[in-house]
Amino acid sequence: MSKKKTDAPATPAASGAPAASNGIASGAAAAMLRAPAELMFAHELEALIQNDKYDKPPGWKMSPRAVLTYICGGKAGSLDISPKYIGYQRLVEIAISTLVTDRALLLIGEPGTAKSWLSEHLAAAINGDSTKVVQGTAGTTEEQIRYTWNYAMLIAHGPSHDALIKSPIFRSMESGSLARFEEITRTASEVQDALISIMSEKRISVPELATEVPAAKGFSIIATANTRDRGVNDMSAALKRRFNIVVLPTPNTLETEIDIVRKRVKELAANLELKAQLPAEDAIEKVVTIFRELRTGQTLDGKNKLKTPSGVLSTAEAISVLANSMALAGNFGTGEVTAHDIAAGLQGSIVKDEEKDKTVWHEYLSNVLKKRGAEWRPLFTACAEHNE
Ligand SMILES: Nc1ncnc2c1ncn2[C@@H]1O[C@H](COP(=O)(O)OP(=O)(O)OP(=O)(O)O)[C@@H](O)[C@H]1O
Ligand SMILES: [Mg+2]
Repeated sequence: MSKKKTDAPATPAASGAPAASNGIASGAAAAMLRAPAELMFAHELEALIQNDKYDKPPGWKMSPRAVLTYICGGKAGSLDISPKYIGYQRLVEIAISTLVTDRALLLIGEPGTAKSWLSEHLAAAINGDSTKVVQGTAGTTEEQIRYTWNYAMLIAHGPSHDALIKSPIFRSMESGSLARFEEITRTASEVQDALISIMSEKRISVPELATEVPAAKGFSIIATANTRDRGVNDMSAALKRRFNIVVLPTPNTLETEIDIVRKRVKELAANLELKAQLPAEDAIEKVVTIFRELRTGQTLDGKNKLKTPSGVLSTAEAISVLANSMALAGNFGTGEVTAHDIAAGLQGSIVKDEEKDKTVWHEYLSNVLKKRGAEWRPLFTACAEHNE
């Protein structure tokens, strides 16, 4: 039987209870261009917490099994939990169990394989707060990983607790929750290494205040890194050893990728209030087919070798092509997505480098799409017109 939970819910209930643990009121979610996962799926998180029969690790809002249900889909009482990550459940299990240990989690993979998406949903389920994020860039400094100062206060009164500006990682250590580090390998290696002491000693020292802050139980880091950027600032072996690495693959079958794209386009369209009908099933299939063929450099039947364009043809790009085509259809068309709406999006996402990609796309159109017969004819004609 389910234990009655007495803790405060992680997130506001769908009924509109105020203030999630990240401080954003639930009513505000509708006004946001993109609400954090804990607000978008507040009702699911709430139901999972209420129906959780298993033990929660320290600092967690729900048990690892409930987190798995939240990510991969299932039931919480009578409520259907929608799958967030579509793919190998085992990978998600490994990711969740890593966070129960004292090792941090590094999600790597090609662009658009849902690394950030999974990281956000894991933090939302485990803590009800996915917003403690450090965004890795070439300009990320050690202060953004550790702490910095309010300089006006520092100059006026010297170092004090009040003048300390804590990084999201520092705040996660204090509260015993998850911090996210996006695109960690874009940050210079010396800066990344500021994490080594945090992750091995589980404390952060503030020498100016002659103090050390220990991490509370529940603290961990979920980092993401793109395999395409990896060479730029590869992680030091010392840092890599402190992470469990989970590689997120590109969807292995056409059907899986179509499922992901269909589901996300529907969610995006609802969120952005795009005034158009969802693209027809065969339009989704065609876009995903084109993406898969150009990505792998061969037709799905393996008979023709193809040149690949310079840009990344990820699942995420396919989602945005279809969302863009809906925006075109909704605003400048009849509301029904046409081959021309899709062709405009395809051209933009495939032809990134004007010279080279235009030729690759042209060759694909005339050597592959043109020969596919009547069913592909409208899309072929629209694409050929756009590529002139
Ligand atoms: N397997 C999948 N299951 C569910 N959604 C997916 C999957 N693969 C891709 N997506 C969708 O693709 C979109 C992009 O994902 P996300 O931004 O997390 O990619 P990423 O791996 O972080 O890419 P990048 O390396 O460019 O940062 C999201 O909307 C996500 O829902
Ligand atoms: Mg990302």
